[in-house]
Amino acid sequence: MDCLDASKTRFSCRMFEKGTMSREDERAIIEAGMSAPSAMNRRPYDIIAIHDQSIYASLESEKPTLSLFKENPLSLLIVVDLGKNDKMEFYEQDASAVAENMLLAATALGYGSLWAGITEGSAFQAGLSKILGIPEGHKPVIFLSFGKKLEHKEVRASRYEEGKLHLERW
Ligand SMILES: Cc1cc2nc3c(=O)[nH]c(=O)nc-3n(C[C@H](O)[C@H](O)[C@H](O)COP(=O)(O)O)c2cc1C
Repeated sequence: MDCLDASKTRFSCRMFEKGTMSREDERAIIEAGMSAPSAMNRRPYDIIAIHDQSIYASLESEKPTLSLFKENPLSLLIVVDLGKNDKMEFYEQDASAVAENMLLAATALGYGSLWAGITEGSAFQAGLSKILGIPEGHKPVIFLSFGKKLEHKEVRASRYEEGKLHLERW
């Protein structure tokens, strides 16, 4: 599947069934994420690969979406390094570029995926830091999970909206 098809067929999968993922596919998804652009090429992130589904139960009260991931072979948590972002600039943009690359790579490889948002300052964010041993000066910002799709969406209508496009100026 090429990139254009992946961008059009990716969808937020909320029904997964038990599945596996090869190390090669896991590596390809992570490498796609790490291939993303970042401001000044600082790549101000670490990624935690989670295979142990038991952590979801401990955080489900803060983030019910995690209950969807019980059968998933892989979740990826993007953690930003505030030491490389002393002015707190660009880290959200950098992390988002990593995340979207990972979602598209997973789509191309045939996996379902879901982005579970982490609200700034939330109990979920604090819980992730505690349970996963994230050190001071680092902050989890994006949680993605990947698995075998139980849900199969029809190719959706194009989201291209002429009205959102402004030619040359607003
Ligand atoms: C920053 C962000 C946070 C999101 N958080 C959640 C979430 O917590 N739970 C969930 O089910 N979907 C979440 N989503 C998925 C969106 O709901 C989804 O992308 C949107 O409805 C469009 O649908 P699509 O992904 O199928 O195109 C999130 C997406 C983004 C980009």
